[in-house]
Order: sequence, then structure tokens, then C-alpha cells
Amino acid sequence: KNLVLLISGRGSNLQSILQAQREQGWEVDVRGVISNRADAAGLEVARAFGVPTQVIAHNDFASREAFDQALAEAIEALQPDVIALCGFMRVLGASFVERFAGCLVNIHPSLLPAFSGLHTHARALQEGVKWHGATVHLVSSALDHGPILAQAAVPVLDGDTLETLAARVLLEEHRIYPPVVRALLEGRVQIDGLRTRILPATE
Ligand code: GRF
Repeated sequence: KNLVLLISGRGSNLQSILQAQREQGWEVDVRGVISNRADAAGLEVARAFGVPTQVIAHNDFASREAFDQALAEAIEALQPDVIALCGFMRVLGASFVERFAGCLVNIHPSLLPAFSGLHTHARALQEGVKWHGATVHLVSSALDHGPILAQAAVPVLDGDTLETLAARVLLEEHRIYPPVVRALLEGRVQIDGLRTRILPATE
């Protein structure tokens, strides 16, 4: 099976997946990492793991459709079975999402359906929720509303700041994302509407 990962920034989720793949010996060909920003630190992470990188800068395109089209072509050339969004900060249009339906997975830093969209940690603090977390979900054309594959909750503690809360959530992101990517690659994910089930690995 082939895996492609998309990033826009730091790449810590990318790193957690590449590390799990290496340590656990997943039988997968990591075909490439694509960034929409040339300055994404995650490109260095990819290189450190010997994964080919490409930059497709959204600024180089006149419209969202033109960017989506170029990105889709670059992805298709890599023939992925699974495309993992790892802090990829561009909203993908409906035709892109439909083209890769079922293969596109994302990690979102909140307990969906709460706090879809941006600035999730600031909004969680603002709303005074006592629990916050992260969600791994399939990407559908409804933003941040595809079938949920995994979630992890963390407490919001007295005195939390954006930084302390974000760091607590990020640790959980790194824990829950790799096993879902692996399950998708191994065909162990069952989908029934918005409800999903991940079958255990057979070894
Ligand atoms: C993570 O918090 C992820 O949930 C969100 O963007 C951030 C990316 O971080 N979608 P990194 O680039 O994986 O370090």
C-alpha cells in the first residue's frame, strides 16, 4: 500500500506517523510528503526519514480550484491508498474531496463536533469547557464533519494557557493518529454512515 502525507507547517504529526511506520515496520511505501508552503518545517522531517518532498504553493495559483487541481494531479501521480493530512491548513474543495473519498484522513485539534474550524484551543479556553482533545476523522465535503475514527480527551486545567493546553492535546494527537493511518492502510476500518469501527490488527 502507498501513503502520501500533506503538511503546511511544523510536521510533528507527520513525524509521529513516520516514526511509528519505521518502528512497527508497517508494510507501506511512503510515496511522498507534499506541502503548500515552501517554509514548512515538516519538509525537513520528511527528508530526515528519506521521504521525497514536493511543494505546491497555493500562492502560485489564481484560484482555489486551480490549486486543488494541481494538488490532486501531484497526489494521483503518487498512487496513494491513503492520504493523511498532518496540519494541512488549506480547505480542500468538494470535487477534490470526492475524488479521494474514503482515502483522505485528517487530525483536528478538538473533540468534534465541538470546535470545528480554526483556533480550537483559544475557543475551548474561552468557552470554559472542562474537557478538550483531538479527533481523527475521514474528510468529507462538510468541513471537519466526516466520520470520526478516533478521539482522545484531555482535561482543561486551572491556569491552562493556550500553550499548555495545546501541548497536552498534541501529545494525544501523536498517540492516536498513527494507529488509524495504519488501520486504513491495512483495510481494517469499517464505515456505516458516520459510525465507524476499527478492527484489531491480526498479528
Ligand atoms: C495539529 O494541532 C493538528 O491537529 C492541526 O494542526 C496542527 C499541526 O501540527 N490540524 P503539526 O504540523 O503536525 O506539528
